[in-house]
Amino acid sequence: MELLPAHAVLALLLAATLSLAVAYDPLDPHGNITIKWDIISWTPDGYVAAVTINNFQAYRQIPSPGWTVGWTWAKREVIWSMVGAQATEQGDCSKFKSNLPHSCKRDPAVVDLLPGVPYNQQIANCCRGGVVSAFGQDPATAVSAFQVSVGQAGTTNKTVKVPKNFTFLGPGNGYTCGPAKVVPSTVFLSPDRRRKTQALMTWNVTCTYSQHLASRYPTCCVSFSSFYNDTIVPCARCACGCGVKSCVRSPRDSKRLVPAASSAHALGLRRGGNRESLAPVLQCTTHMCPVRVHWHVKLNYHDYWRAKVTVTNFNYAMNYTGWTLVAQHPNLDNITQVFSFDYKPVVSYGSINDTAMFYGMKFFNDQLMEAGPYGNVQSEVLMRKDASTFTFRQGWAFPRKIYFNGDECQMPPPDDYPYMPNSSPPSALASTAMIVGSAVAAFLVLLMA
Ligand SMILES: *[C@@H]1O[C@H](CO)[C@@H](O)[C@H](O)[C@H]1NC(C)=O
Ligand SMILES: *[C@@H]1O[C@H](CO)[C@@H](O)[C@H](O)[C@H]1NC(C)=O
Ligand SMILES: *[C@@H]1O[C@H](CO)[C@@H](O)[C@H](O)[C@H]1NC(C)=O
Ligand SMILES: *[C@@H]1O[C@H](CO)[C@@H](O)[C@H](O)[C@H]1NC(C)=O
Ligand SMILES: *[C@@H]1O[C@H](CO)[C@@H](O)[C@H](O)[C@H]1NC(C)=O
Ligand SMILES: *[C@@H]1O[C@H](CO)[C@@H](O)[C@H](O)[C@H]1NC(C)=O
Ligand SMILES: *[C@@H]1O[C@H](CO)[C@@H](O)[C@H](O)[C@H]1NC(C)=O
Ligand SMILES: *[C@@H]1O[C@H](CO)[C@@H](O)[C@H](O)[C@H]1NC(C)=O
Repeated sequence: MELLPAHAVLALLLAATLSLAVAYDPLDPHGNITIKWDIISWTPDGYVAAVTINNFQAYRQIPSPGWTVGWTWAKREVIWSMVGAQATEQGDCSKFKSNLPHSCKRDPAVVDLLPGVPYNQQIANCCRGGVVSAFGQDPATAVSAFQVSVGQAGTTNKTVKVPKNFTFLGPGNGYTCGPAKVVPSTVFLSPDRRRKTQALMTWNVTCTYSQHLASRYPTCCVSFSSFYNDTIVPCARCACGCGVKSCVRSPRDSKRLVPAASSAHALGLRRGGNRESLAPVLQCTTHMCPVRVHWHVKLNYHDYWRAKVTVTNFNYAMNYTGWTLVAQHPNLDNITQVFSFDYKPVVSYGSINDTAMFYGMKFFNDQLMEAGPYGNVQSEVLMRKDASTFTFRQGWAFPRKIYFNGDECQMPPPDDYPYMPNSSPPSALASTAMIVGSAVAAFLVLLMA
């Protein structure tokens, strides 16, 4: 039986802590958002483009209040009309005598329409309030689209100028977009797949996320406990920054603050305003995080072990709809059963399947409610032991990394991990019947909770 020496584990854990500082996400190295413009027809003074936003990130969705896409026109282009989205400002259209354009801004900001707009103003994949799933969670809704009719533009693929300086706000300012690049024209297949058509011209923009850009401090933290040691390792003090952050001590105090946050939310549609719209109304804690993930090493069986995972919301101003939780642990390639959550392996990370994404079950717990009595979701994960690596020593049973909604959570300091009182091998035995029995019981308890 080979064990990693303690310092190797510590180094791993330290690496996990430090990786917050870099933009690159090792668990989703190719994750990006692609904005594609397909010119589908020329008009007397410009073109009509179908714009598609694909979220190719494995576990980072664009939650409410959704995306805002911006760019700067290369010349004096205007937007005559849009379908499935709208520019947030019309800008100065005084040069036009009649038949005013939809927007004359040189740097328009565009937002998705809300659900429920009339069918004649919709196109496929529009009108979800800018909410886009992570590709790993639901590829079918990991896309958003709109159409834009552009005037005072080139009318051939030689004279069209691609827009510059694309921006993608998807709540918070964590995305950086590269330049638009003209790429081979998209080929479309007709619904019956018997005819192909082609865009007249196509350009792509790729935007990538950096947690460091999105927020100076982590937005979630992790705490630990175990059946073999009474110590509860809390979230690190000020894990999400203390400083000038304010917080409320009781739900009653939060009521005074939440309405203010909601009106900021409405203003959030303004370009660049998204960040403040998400300002949390925090319950006072020592960690000052809006979200805490607790990992409890619960049971040890002969061939299996079980961890209980609880996600708690400390933000009175936010229901996290469609939340995701990503955990990295060497034994997650041997998940036998997950209770009360759905899960998928995150396979983009090379060939090592040590990362899993958990998310709520539709109509049951896919919404993590605002802080308070209902502000938590929990699950138990049953893993088959890999005899060659399994141990409770040196904090091995705790996750290496945790992400909530695509942001890496602050781990407790490695020295604090609960450890085994002695190094005798795990002894508890259990028959399969017992496992299944207690699993059913745990599920019933969760359902009743
Ligand atoms: C964006 O993601 C897609 C899908 O994973 C990938 O094929 C593409 O290479 C990525 N683009 C960049 C510029 O990384
Ligand atoms: C452009 O983006 C689309 C997805 O929107 C992708 O399928 C295509 O491969 C991209 N093309 C290039 C050349 O990056
Ligand atoms: C695009 O952004 C760069 C850097 O922010 C700036 O120097 C440049 O002037 C901008 N271009 C346009 C057309 O706004
Ligand atoms: C422009 O259109 C011509 C023919 O219409 C085509 O041959 C050419 O490849 C196109 N160029 C680009 C950059 O799409
Ligand atoms: C969260 O959802 C509940 C029930 O749908 C609702 O009453 C509450 O106002 C929501 N809270 C926030 C902050 O949106
Ligand atoms: C990881 O999962 C993928 C897809 O499920 C599978 O093809 C691959 O063999 C797995 N790799 C390992 C090391 O288990
Ligand atoms: C864990 O999963 C890996 C890959 O699927 C497999 O090779 C290994 O035998 C499993 N370990 C146990 C103890 O089941
Ligand atoms: C439990 O773990 C803590 C470290 O978090 C350690 O200080 C303590 O001695 C452990 N308790 C026992 C009984 O070993």
